[in-house]
Amino acid sequence: MQIGPHALPSPVVLAPMAGVTDRPFRILCRKLGAGLAASEMLTADTRLWTTSKSRWRMNHEGEPEPRVVQLAGADPQALAEAARLNVELGAQIIDLNMGCPAKKVCGRLCGSALLSDEPLVARILEAVVRAVHVPVTLKIRTGWDREHRNGVNIARIAECCGVAALAVHGRTRADFYAGSAEYETIRDIKMHVRIPVFANGDIGDGKKAREVLDFTGADGVMIGRASHGAPWIFRAVNARLRDEFATPALLRSEVRDIILAHLDSVYCFYGEETGVRIARKHLGWYCGQLLGEPAAVRRNLMGAVNTAAQFAQALKHFDEWVGEAAVAA
Ligand SMILES: Cc1cc2nc3c(=O)[nH]c(=O)nc-3n(C[C@H](O)[C@H](O)[C@H](O)COP(=O)(O)O)c2cc1C
Repeated sequence: MQIGPHALPSPVVLAPMAGVTDRPFRILCRKLGAGLAASEMLTADTRLWTTSKSRWRMNHEGEPEPRVVQLAGADPQALAEAARLNVELGAQIIDLNMGCPAKKVCGRLCGSALLSDEPLVARILEAVVRAVHVPVTLKIRTGWDREHRNGVNIARIAECCGVAALAVHGRTRADFYAGSAEYETIRDIKMHVRIPVFANGDIGDGKKAREVLDFTGADGVMIGRASHGAPWIFRAVNARLRDEFATPALLRSEVRDIILAHLDSVYCFYGEETGVRIARKHLGWYCGQLLGEPAAVRRNLMGAVNTAAQFAQALKHFDEWVGEAAVAA
């Protein structure tokens, strides 16, 4: 799998998720086998880049290459300028968000709402591709509603404008997250363009990844929600796609160490107050995935008010879990 000059180590990539795919989570997923990990979306409105949220989102220190910055916006010139500035700051791939179902982001029409205006999509893509010397990728849904699945048109426009790769979530904007993802439109898109296509939506294990790749002919898969509390999913899906059935399961002690190191990196990145809040979200997911969510354990983990107490609770409960059995995932 190749995006511009970048050969990806794996065709299984992490989906951009606002509030989830921060620098600590991206580094973790890359370490565990994700071929690429885009940042949370960053608004193209540079006036908002001084907020702490944007500054965290723009921080890529220590991240493995290629560094991908996802931009959201609707104005071609603003997006082009935002792309140029991010490349100056070290972005090696610019990803454009036309997949987010929110009607407005930062008060402006953007995300998948743009799919209903194909000429505007073309103007945005032309402007951004022209503005930077790095590959520009695009993330879309299959269309804006089930009567208007124009994903193939958008993909052709993208290819004509010089977009280097496409990720397609198998739902329309109107679907939001309801129902199941469909892969027929992704297959149609793949048949009509030559640029690499990532299939996205409801891929939760290696078997499903294999089925989706076989059905769509896509070049890779993008995984979002299934990575919550399970960043090791990339390791497992890679093994399945390579038919490496002998890949040993992770030991519980290894999983515990991954979780504790993740907490530590969240604390270092965000500091005490925000760190404890962000880590709580991930701990909730780890707890749900691994500990079966016993109420008392959940209360202890979720109720800790500072990083030291939270880390101590996590250490205690995951140590107990390691003591129960050896093999985890
Ligand atoms: C919490 C959350 C935040 C998301 N934020 C973004 C985003 O910032 N940019 C984007 O393109 N898609 C965003 N998405 C959509 C995902 O990238 C992905 O397309 C979607 O979750 C479907 O994939 P999945 O079924 O593997 O989760 C978000 C999804 C979730 C669940």
